[in-house]
Amino acid sequence: MLRASGLVKSYRAPSGEPIPVLRGVDLTVKDGELVAVVGHSGSGKSTLLSVLGLLEDADAGEITYENVCVSVRSRSAKSRARGRWVGFVFQSFLLLPSLTALENVVLAARYTGRDRTEARRRAQVLLDELGVLERKDHYPQELSGGEQQRIAFCRAVLNDPPLLLADEPTGNLDDANGAVIFDALRRRARAGAAVVVVSHRPEAAMGATAVYRLRGGVLEA
Ligand SMILES: Nc1ncnc2c1ncn2[C@@H]1O[C@H](COP(=O)(O)OP(=O)(O)O)[C@@H](O)[C@H]1O
Ligand SMILES: [Mg+2]
Repeated sequence: MLRASGLVKSYRAPSGEPIPVLRGVDLTVKDGELVAVVGHSGSGKSTLLSVLGLLEDADAGEITYENVCVSVRSRSAKSRARGRWVGFVFQSFLLLPSLTALENVVLAARYTGRDRTEARRRAQVLLDELGVLERKDHYPQELSGGEQQRIAFCRAVLNDPPLLLADEPTGNLDDANGAVIFDALRRRARAGAAVVVVSHRPEAAMGATAVYRLRGGVLEA
């Protein structure tokens, strides 16, 4: 599903000095695999995930989704590729405060041309799976962090993205709520998605098909 080769990325310090973050990352994730990338804070995990998900451009290297090269496309073509292939789960949930839980999830179907009734039905199945169906008509500020993250997860997978990218998906959660999210990620992989989780938490590696450490800008087995 996902193949990245030779990814290089630097940021610039205010002095203009380059800060190398990725120094040649190669990564392949097949359908049904869950790959965990661990590394200490500042090692470049979020940068790697943003590059893999086409949110940020690398300075060098290539990314393919299902053997289609997506890293050389225009900005708008990249955003279409993202919409078609990628679901993101972030540490901060970014639910819209003026929409209910259910409406936040259904929002993900807006640009897919999917039937609204069908999207609502699918959203309710997912909310039920994550144990938050009874919260569907609540607004984000009425929900706990764990509930908000479950709802954000439902939104990320509503369109069944074949590639799921999760950045510290349990970063704001206690252990019990974190376990729910990790379980849900593993279920998506078993259902055939390619899943990449970056996290400093060791639980991210549990049930992963491969675990890499990001150190010095490269992935180590
Ligand atoms: N937009 C940016 N501009 C400049 N430096 C950045 C930017 N984003 C991240 N960095 C730097 O890149 C390094 C890696 O950051 P990040 O990918 O967020 O690491 P991690 O997610 O592993 O904590 C850090 O040194 C960070 O300060
Ligand atoms: Mg990070």
